Amino acid sequence: MEKLKHLIKMEDMGKRDDIEALFELSKAIKENPEKFRNQFAGTGKRIATLFYEPSTRTRSGFHAAAHELGLGVIDETAESSSCLKGESLEDTIRTFEGYCDGIVLRHEDTKAGNRATAVASVPIISAGCGKGEHPPQALLEGFALNEKKGKIDGLGVAFEGDLKNSRTAHSLIKLLSLYKDITIHCSSVPGLELPKEYVKLMEERGTSFSQCSPQDIPRDVDAIYMTRVKQELLKNKKHDTQRYFMDQKRLDTFSKDTLLMHPLPRNAEIPSSVDKDPRAVYFKVARDGVPTKQAILMATLQDELSL
Ligand code: NCD
Repeated sequence: MEKLKHLIKMEDMGKRDDIEALFELSKAIKENPEKFRNQFAGTGKRIATLFYEPSTRTRSGFHAAAHELGLGVIDETAESSSCLKGESLEDTIRTFEGYCDGIVLRHEDTKAGNRATAVASVPIISAGCGKGEHPPQALLEGFALNEKKGKIDGLGVAFEGDLKNSRTAHSLIKLLSLYKDITIHCSSVPGLELPKEYVKLMEERGTSFSQCSPQDIPRDVDAIYMTRVKQELLKNKKHDTQRYFMDQKRLDTFSKDTLLMHPLPRNAEIPSSVDKDPRAVYFKVARDGVPTKQAILMATLQDELSL
C-alpha cells in the first residue's frame, strides 16, 4: 500500500487493491492488537483532531486508535477554537501543522478538506466534511461487510433515509462501486435522494442501481444501511419519514442473513428494541472500527507499511 498523502475523498485511497490492503492491515491489527501497539511510542509523533461539528464515534475512535499506536493527540473542537473569534480554517490548519504530524478534520463545509489540503504540509484525514464524504467511516463499514459476508463482490446493499446529506453513505457507495456485480437499492425519503454525481459514478462503474420504496427492498438483500434524516441541515423543512423506520416487525420480513447497519447516531429510525437482534451490527461495527482507524493512521504517518 502506498503512503496516503491525504484522505479527503474515497479516490484518495487509490484502487480496489489499496482498499483491500487497508482491510488486510485492519484485520491483522484486530486479530493481534499487541503486535501493533505503541508502534509510534518514543517517535514524538502526534495527531491533531480538529472537530468543528459534534462527534461521538469518529473523534473518540481516532483518539482510541492513536493511543493504541502510541501517538500523541491534540484535541480541538469548535468551542475551544479561535474560529469563534473569526479565525479562518486555513489559518488554523497552518498553526496546527506546526504542532502535529497529521490532522483529522471534521467540518460543516463540504469543501473544508480541499481548503485544508491546499495549505497543509501535513496529511489531512477528513472525518466528514459537510454533505460530501466521510472516507474513514466507509472504510470501516467496508471492512465490516467484507469480514461478515466473506467478500464484497456480488453484494446487494440497500441504503435508506436521507441519502442526499449522508456523507457516510456517499463514501460507502463509492467504495462498493469499485467491486464487481454490486447492486445498490436506494430507498430515499422523498426530497432527500442520492445526489446525481453518485448515480453517474455507479453507471460508469457498472454498478446496478435502483431507486425504490421501503417495501420494495428485496427481502434477501445482504445489508440494509439506515441513515438518520439530518434535521439540523434541513432547518424547519419537514419530510415525511414515517415509512423509513426499521422495527423488529419490518426486520423480520428480511432474510436471517440481512445485516442491519447504521453509521450512528440514530434518531427514531431504528428503535433500541432491535439492538438485540444478531443482524443489528451497528455498535459492533463502531467498536471494530478502531483497528481500521489505526490502519488509516499508519497508512498516513508511516513510511514503510507491512503486516
Ligand atoms: C455520521 C456523520 O457524522 O457523518 N456519523 C459518523 O461519523 N459515524 C452520521 C450522522 O451524523 O448522521
